Amino acid sequence: MTTQNPSGTPDLPVDMIIFGGGGDLSARKLLPALYMAHLHCNLPPETRIIAIGRRDWTREQYLAFMEEHSRPFVDSKALDAQSWDKFLALFDYVRIDIDAPADYQRLAETSRPNGLRVFYLATAPDLFTTICDNLAVAGLVDAHARVVLEKPLGHDLASAQAINASVGRHFKEAQIYRIDHYLGKETVQNLMVLRFGNAIFGPLWQAPYIKSVQITVAETVGVGSRAGFYDQTGALRDMVQNHLLQLLCIVAMEPPVSLDPDAVRDEKLKVLRSLRPMSVADIARDTVRGQYAAGAIGGEPVKGYLEEANVPAESRAETFVALRAHINNWRWANVPFFLRTGKRLQKRQSEIVIDFADLPFSIIPSGPRNYGNRLIIQLQPEESIQLQMLAKEPGSGMHMLPVNLNLDLQQAFTERRAEAYERLLIDVIRGRLTHFMRRDELEAAWAWVEPILAGWKELNDRPRNYTAGTFGPAASSALMARESMAWAEEA
Ligand code: BG6
Repeated sequence: MTTQNPSGTPDLPVDMIIFGGGGDLSARKLLPALYMAHLHCNLPPETRIIAIGRRDWTREQYLAFMEEHSRPFVDSKALDAQSWDKFLALFDYVRIDIDAPADYQRLAETSRPNGLRVFYLATAPDLFTTICDNLAVAGLVDAHARVVLEKPLGHDLASAQAINASVGRHFKEAQIYRIDHYLGKETVQNLMVLRFGNAIFGPLWQAPYIKSVQITVAETVGVGSRAGFYDQTGALRDMVQNHLLQLLCIVAMEPPVSLDPDAVRDEKLKVLRSLRPMSVADIARDTVRGQYAAGAIGGEPVKGYLEEANVPAESRAETFVALRAHINNWRWANVPFFLRTGKRLQKRQSEIVIDFADLPFSIIPSGPRNYGNRLIIQLQPEESIQLQMLAKEPGSGMHMLPVNLNLDLQQAFTERRAEAYERLLIDVIRGRLTHFMRRDELEAAWAWVEPILAGWKELNDRPRNYTAGTFGPAASSALMARESMAWAEEA
């Protein structure tokens, strides 16, 4: 394995090699993240970035592409001409036809023979096998090499297993970084500290003291220019299989024995394996699929999904999912986990809501009946943690009202917060695997999700329409109301 100094910075020069260097993800996320890492001196000295693409571009043409398509995504406050030029100086461009083994020789000639090579595969997953095979043939995979795999890793369990097996022929598990950018978000990492760095939550973090958990990732964006990918994918594969299940794991896992990557990933795996499989009857009752129809967001009219460019007229792809999951273990027996995500919803809001059990008995007659404390962990757009509690309304006898105990992380810490991709790219360079998915985790997540996809097919399920700018179909509220519960914004 690569030698590292104690700070985790590798002692070898780093070549960051990005397949799909001319693609959307590189332009919008990876290159701006690398710029920020460079600006804040978090890339080791002598790092080089080699963009790989199929277009017959010169280096200058690639830099022009970055100028036009990537620079606009860099935080303007952090952008100055001199730093940007220094960043561009790190780049090379190599044209490779992914299917042509001979082309990889050009990469072998450009990258440094004794360096640490990080291969970032920001391409469609069906190319991963070919790329890894051809890298190996070209002699580019050695014990120092690392490979970063972008999601979606497959479209079902079998395809995920096939990708894992073929990448695993050339890279050991400890060299493979399966990225889920939600694990790079500050608040998601902070959730571990909230749970395991504060003793007060420990005893309460289980049934029967927790009544239910809600996890919402609501987006206002629509499908944009990604219909080709999205229509084959849908929200369950795009968001639930990875981001939402990872959030669920962090909420539900047992304390790991340490923060070592495998200690953390072992605990997450146990949660995934404890998810109660859904029967077709469960799927009919406990899942809701939706598709947005025309509406308005922030006062602006927006199209329906079926009117978006390149969406087939009869598409049944879901742009919204809500479901009720259960974890079959001692800690969580009978605690429903409500997961929900969708595009073109009323506002961008990602949050985890922990509903604590109701007061066993109220001695204060004027107090609300059935009151339970609620912990709201907001991930986006702002980071905050609020605990809703009852307090006495001043001067009102014993009249009680809910108030918030508010942890404003933006105010408490003024340090710059790195974006998820920046943090995760630095983790890759420093060899830190904790916030990346292990093979068995990924496969366990697919094993739980796949029967839901099959169940929808069997039920000939059509997504329900919801008006863009709402919080999804009415059936999503009904899913909670059935149990006398409500989504946070409806409570
Ligand atoms: C991606 C999905 O993984 O996550 C997109 O493919 C989605 O469809 C995006 O829009 C959401 O990420 P974030 O960080 O904006 O919440």
